[in-house]
Amino acid sequence: MIIRCLIYFLHFSTPGSKIFLHNFLYLRFEQSGGPNWKVKLGRKDSLTASQEASNNIMPSPRANATYLINLFSNFNLSVKDLVALSGSHSIGKARCFSIVFRLYNQSGTGRPDPAIEPKYREKLDELCPLGGDEEVTGDLDATPENFDNQYYKDLVMGRGFLNSDQTLFTFPETRKYVKMFSKNQSKFFRAFVEGMIKLGDLQSGMPGEVRRNCRVVNTKKVKVLIEAER
Ligand code: HEM
Repeated sequence: MIIRCLIYFLHFSTPGSKIFLHNFLYLRFEQSGGPNWKVKLGRKDSLTASQEASNNIMPSPRANATYLINLFSNFNLSVKDLVALSGSHSIGKARCFSIVFRLYNQSGTGRPDPAIEPKYREKLDELCPLGGDEEVTGDLDATPENFDNQYYKDLVMGRGFLNSDQTLFTFPETRKYVKMFSKNQSKFFRAFVEGMIKLGDLQSGMPGEVRRNCRVVNTKKVKVLIEAER
């Protein structure tokens, strides 16, 4: 449930959302050894969902750093926030679907992404063969159960799973933060908490409610029950 909610929040949330799922992220990251911070309770989520609006803000695994910098700046999130928040990929997995293009046809070249370290590429080729099952999943970093700075160490070695991860080391503007966090986990944790607090404070100004289940709007029955409890 937590992971499902996470994915909804991060990658499928709508602009109407006031990011109530922040709380779930907090739990997931803390349980994996990550930093903790004060989560403000009672955030509201949107009453409606729009696939189109969601597509407009959902970051693609193909994205390059320039695109991501612009996307994050639309939400007043800095380059440092972008690199620190991407460190959430220190835990979890992603599907072959999200990387086959970079293994076999990066930017329409018919070739793999040259930024992938050759031994790692062999491993990914084996996991995600061309024409294979794209629902198979691989680890987002070398220590997917632990929230740590291994993600950045991997990027420095050309071992980032997603294009949107590895691009952070390819571009000079983001590379300096990747290097910094790869050398200093405390700096990463501090920047990550700052970014998460900013994310949690985002407001859409649209009508919302505190959901009982992050995936669906509250049913009337639940509301009636809550009223009855008071
Ligand atoms: C910078 C832009 C981002 C892009 C392009 C991106 C993209 C992705 C993609 C493509 C996946 C795998 C989906 C799949 O293949 O099924 C994923 C997984 C994940 N993302 Fe992101 N993401 C971004 C930012 C974030 C942020 C800011 C967070 C948290 C604060 C986050 C947390 C996660 C987690 C925890 C997973 C793994 C979930 C699991 O293990 O099931 N991502 N992301």
